[in-house]
Amino acid sequence: MIGFKLLHEKNHSSATHKGTGAWFGSKPINVDIGQNPVFLLRAPDGSVGAAISSNDSANAYKQALITLVKNTLDRFSRGGFSAASLEAAMLGGAENARWKWDRMLEIVRNDFTNIKKFDEGGLYYRIIHFDPKSGLAAVSRKKANPDDWNPASAKLSIESGTKGFSEGHAGGVVANATRFFREKTTFTALREVVIPAHLAETPDAPFLFWSAACSAGAEAYSYAMYIHRLLTRAKATCPFKVFATDINQKLVEGAKTGVYKANKNDIGEYRAYFRRYGELDGDTVRFGKEIRQFISFNTFDLKQRPRKKGFRMVVCANVFQYYDDAARSHFLENFMSAVTRPGYIFVGPMRDPIIHALGLKKLTKYKMFMVE
Ligand SMILES: C[S@@+](CC[C@H](N)C(=O)[O-])C[C@H]1O[C@@H](n2cnc3c(N)ncnc32)[C@H](O)[C@@H]1O
Repeated sequence: MIGFKLLHEKNHSSATHKGTGAWFGSKPINVDIGQNPVFLLRAPDGSVGAAISSNDSANAYKQALITLVKNTLDRFSRGGFSAASLEAAMLGGAENARWKWDRMLEIVRNDFTNIKKFDEGGLYYRIIHFDPKSGLAAVSRKKANPDDWNPASAKLSIESGTKGFSEGHAGGVVANATRFFREKTTFTALREVVIPAHLAETPDAPFLFWSAACSAGAEAYSYAMYIHRLLTRAKATCPFKVFATDINQKLVEGAKTGVYKANKNDIGEYRAYFRRYGELDGDTVRFGKEIRQFISFNTFDLKQRPRKKGFRMVVCANVFQYYDDAARSHFLENFMSAVTRPGYIFVGPMRDPIIHALGLKKLTKYKMFMVE
């Protein structure tokens, strides 16, 4: 079976492979996995092994892993090994990349029922040395520091996390990246659950929505257009407002202008929205007064206690993965203090202990939480 040994940093030779990939072979495999978890496979006779690791960002991570696992299994099967016959282990994954561990487990659990799990979380940076012959995974780790190549390593505590962001880049990843209609499940949730619940419970009360950490605001315009469309269709009479906030003042000021460069895909997919709620001139979208009146943009740091209350839904997407658990809990508590009952919160993947500690109810289909 695959075993595990923790090494001191200096006991380890430097890694020959880095970042995203699947490494396959009969000789020892040396991989720099940064703060990401790694999935190890080994033929029971030790003739061949593989290490699979991905440092992709939230949206691409799942797909990248599925592809890597599938390709690796194909290679094993060409050598006469089936998934059922392989030995499997997972290790690594710093606290702030723990959501990756959960995702990876979710993906590989289908094929491998008997997975050994090793290593602890923490803000560590790791190099693994996996010997398929002996089945030993030797791991050296050191406290992560901002100079490491891994994007998640930019000293991400509640105090310093925002620094990585406000500097614009977190280790090579553009941390302000955003898109129109980005988190698809939140739009489905609005249509299927949140707006119906609001209209059933409090049809005359204002429908308040918070786009927290909205970056350049494409997200806020997307929600405003979508909510406007749904309320109009439902012949609802309640007023509505999208409150959009971000810590970065430059982005907030830009968002207020309502002018965007849209890419080809966005234009192809959302042309009807852009034309209905603004003007589309080449690749430039200019949102009109009709929709802008429903959105307010302000600077706000998620660390602060929100003064505004009564939100039916809060979406804080693609931010939590850059913070540690203490910060995440703190942000979630802030959101909980700001929502109505029932209130709906989307923050992307979260670890179960935090969800339980805060008493949040999971709405699995929509990947979000309900506050009762
Ligand atoms: C990757 S973007 C995500 C934007 C958008 N939510 C989306 O999913 O497309 C992350 C945003 O979070 C903001 N941010 C990071 N830490 C923050 C904090 N403590 N308070 C408010 N905004 C923060 C950054 O300025 C950046 O605009």
